[in-house]
Amino acid sequence: MVSAVSNLSGTGGNERFNKEAAAWDSRPFVHEASQGAAEAILRKCIALSVSPQQVLEIGCGTGILSFLIAPHVERLVAIDAAEGMIEMLEQKLQKPGAPKNIVPVAVLLEDPEDASLPPADPAKPNGQRQKFDLITSHLVLHHIPDLKAVLETMFGCLTLGGRVMLTDFQDFGSEAKRFHPASKLGGVERHGIRITDMTASMKEVGFKHVEVRAEWTMSKKVERFDGEFGDSGGPPRDDAGEMMNFPFVLCYGEKL
Ligand SMILES: C[S@@+](CC[C@H](N)C(=O)[O-])C[C@H]1O[C@@H](n2cnc3c(N)ncnc32)[C@H](O)[C@@H]1O
Repeated sequence: MVSAVSNLSGTGGNERFNKEAAAWDSRPFVHEASQGAAEAILRKCIALSVSPQQVLEIGCGTGILSFLIAPHVERLVAIDAAEGMIEMLEQKLQKPGAPKNIVPVAVLLEDPEDASLPPADPAKPNGQRQKFDLITSHLVLHHIPDLKAVLETMFGCLTLGGRVMLTDFQDFGSEAKRFHPASKLGGVERHGIRITDMTASMKEVGFKHVEVRAEWTMSKKVERFDGEFGDSGGPPRDDAGEMMNFPFVLCYGEKL
């Protein structure tokens, strides 16, 4: 069955991310993109004079963004539906110098009371699940079939006064579909985030002070024609493709 919150339970997504997990960190683009996201999130916290301490990251992958945010917070629960991604994160957390405050969890999150989330009170392991003062999610929303459903789940995971800061590439028009090579369209639900649609969905779910706007731009190597990079999943040949700029959005909202 294909879930409303993620198509990862279908054939395209989980399979693709489990397969890509081992080589994920070898791609410079994913580090650069997470760096852009971390800077946008930390800038927003400074602008608002807030310092969230209990953070949930949905779709953390191998934890590249988690590692950048963890030094600024008390605890970060990093979840991903692909077990392969979480295994890579667990291996990275064993290495010297790794942050000690990241809690990795393999789950496709569709319910704020999912038993795999930490309990609100450690003395009551089967009681209500923890609520968070910040939820982040980077390069994930474009994989989600029903954005409203995932936003409702996020809303349910927040404390009162908590906020979301979600980052992804922007759907700025028909060229946005070039973000993914033809071989990586498995699990891609939309070609980026449309500012007007996302703003409307966040408001419908009940978020206040909603702001969805382009915060930074990144250059990415794209195919000149469908299938140019082949289907090996490896990096394209040096002489293949061309560079293209993609705007990235920060989607902000508060639960009041
Ligand atoms: C493009 S990857 C991005 C990974 C990471 N954020 C990064 O930028 O390196 C998208 C990730 O989102 C995860 N994902 C998508 N929907 C999810 C959901 N509802 N719950 C948990 N993980 C999800 C996938 O398993 C995949 O690892």
